[in-house]
Amino acid sequence: MKIIATILFSVFLISCQNSDSSKTNKFVPEMYEVSEMTNLMRSIYKENEVIKKEIISGEAPKHFPTYFLNIFKSKLTDNKPYTENFVAYSKVYIDHVRSIYDSVSTISLKTRYNNSINSCISCHTTECTGPIPRIKKLLIE
Ligand code: HEC
Repeated sequence: MKIIATILFSVFLISCQNSDSSKTNKFVPEMYEVSEMTNLMRSIYKENEVIKKEIISGEAPKHFPTYFLNIFKSKLTDNKPYTENFVAYSKVYIDHVRSIYDSVSTISLKTRYNNSINSCISCHTTECTGPIPRIKKLLIE
């Protein structure tokens, strides 16, 4: 029970704060229906935990995870249209991710990786502030 409560609590914590309050009138199962974008973001989050570990242990991540490109086409919650901000930031983000896999770059891997995480944070500042504290944990100190 304690574990379930913890999980539910953390799901609540990491959700976007600007979620639609009209949702509270719907049936409970619908409240847990997650969008394509949310699922993608959760996978991207997990992938970054792996990338972070690799970089800390001195390994260069090898393959650009092409499914990250689904950021350009995944459906948002309630099928909301992408804002101009979202479109701009998603391009910046993907450019930063690509730079991690640039084997001839003269910028340190740690900096390139942190730049990518900072662009997650930039986008979230305007689009979805809830997960920011959690995203910050992905930064390499
Ligand atoms: C271009 C903007 C943008 C970028 C870049 C971005 N996000 Fe998101 N993120 C969003 C939006 C918008 C949502 C909400 C999705 C929805 O409403 O369907 C979201 C949702 C999430 C969620 C889901 C929260 C939940 O309810 O479970 C997590 C976690 C997350 N993002 C982490 C990240 C991480 C980590 C990165 C970078 C590695 C990142 N995001 C990059 C815009 C962005």
